[in-house]
Amino acid sequence: MTDNSKDTIKMWGGRFTEPTDEFVARFTASVSFDRRLYPFDIEGSIAHARMLQKVGELTQAEASAIIEGLASIRSVIEKGAFDWEIELEDVHMNIEAALTRRIGEVGKKLHTGRSRNDQVATDIRLFVRHEIDRIAELIGGIQAALLDLAEQEAETVMPGFTHLQIAQPVSFGHHLLAWFEMLDRDYQRLIDCRKRVNFSPLGAAALAGTTFPIDRHYTSELLGFSAPTANSLDSVSDRDFAIELASAASIIMTHLSRFSEELVLWTSAQFDFIHLPDRFCTGSSIMPQKKNPDVPELVRGKTGRVIGHLMSLLTLMKSQPLAYNRDNQEDKEPLFDLLDTVRDCLSAYLAVIPAIECNRKNMRIAAMKGHATATDLADYLVKQGVTFRDAHEIVGKAVASAIKQRKGLPELSLEEMKGFYSGIGGEVFEILNLEGSLNARDHHGGTAPTQVRQAIRKARYNLAHR
Ligand code: ARG
Repeated sequence: MTDNSKDTIKMWGGRFTEPTDEFVARFTASVSFDRRLYPFDIEGSIAHARMLQKVGELTQAEASAIIEGLASIRSVIEKGAFDWEIELEDVHMNIEAALTRRIGEVGKKLHTGRSRNDQVATDIRLFVRHEIDRIAELIGGIQAALLDLAEQEAETVMPGFTHLQIAQPVSFGHHLLAWFEMLDRDYQRLIDCRKRVNFSPLGAAALAGTTFPIDRHYTSELLGFSAPTANSLDSVSDRDFAIELASAASIIMTHLSRFSEELVLWTSAQFDFIHLPDRFCTGSSIMPQKKNPDVPELVRGKTGRVIGHLMSLLTLMKSQPLAYNRDNQEDKEPLFDLLDTVRDCLSAYLAVIPAIECNRKNMRIAAMKGHATATDLADYLVKQGVTFRDAHEIVGKAVASAIKQRKGLPELSLEEMKGFYSGIGGEVFEILNLEGSLNARDHHGGTAPTQVRQAIRKARYNLAHR
């Protein structure tokens, strides 16, 4: 049974002859989740009231009463003392009803020249913009932490992998800078997305604009948008800006998931490349010896959840005719959850990166295991005048012989080496050692520690100047 006395508080009840079904009221309400938009809803309403005064639709006294009323509602909400009512459907009508209760009849003038359709579109754009700034800051923090660790480990040799097989030695600092680059593109993507988010839909009203002499440029400016949106139908209906952010967030999560996979591998007994402090790990209820890398594992797992939300948003939009449809109310839960998740995961990384302790000895031992300097030997032969394909063949035979003898390539004697190619001299051993291999890759983007340090300097500069 619907409570009739409560039903009279409805804002659109005029043309209805019976109260809303109780199920329908619950099914259509969004206040349980969209209430978190309240700071943006109030900010948008204040800008709208200022504009109404500027164009003469509200007197100064009326506008002031509305603005003060909204500000006091904001502090009631902040204190947790606001009574959210499901009968009032959403955050917009809850706040507007509270305003009228608080300041009387004049509160009913606030909705002049706008609709909940442009109101909610404005709220979400303000919210998304705010979230982009928070996420971008977290990414910047992780990038700075990566540079510190990369600097510390610029000379640390680890095996570089392809196909998860030992490929060539690399600097651990260089590996960390690869993560840095991935996050840098993530940051740039957010900033680029922000440009398209930052337009004001306010004034598009329900779909066609309004008959009042509104000033959309003024509200846009008050809200810090770069300009009003160009088309009223588009303004109230599309959520591509949220999809774009969800897509950027999914790429961020994909990167974090890849980092996580490496952390999981590196902390395993088989690799034992790094150590994560106990505070980031948990134990097993049955196996007393276990220390599990749960934080990176959960980040990896939550990636699926964020990508799922991106799919929800795309699917939500795909069949909607212009202009606003109630479907769009379904944008909020996936959007909120994916942003909360990305922020949590980035916060986890912000704490984890500086806490990584590197097991340099084991990285080095692993780098010596897989004949990782075989390419260096081939390059050496090419510099002696052998063609690369022939050099590849010669070194392949040398590796086969080393494997047979259970030796590393640098452990073969000069005699044996000469057996594969007579021109090989004693200097070959400098080429075959790990440092020699790293130092030889001394060009822009290469793994030589001097290049790694230069890349760190450049990255630090860019980070400080963006
Ligand atoms: N709660 C709605 C939403 O999130 C607000 C807009 C409702 N507009 C309407 N005409 N029913 O989209």
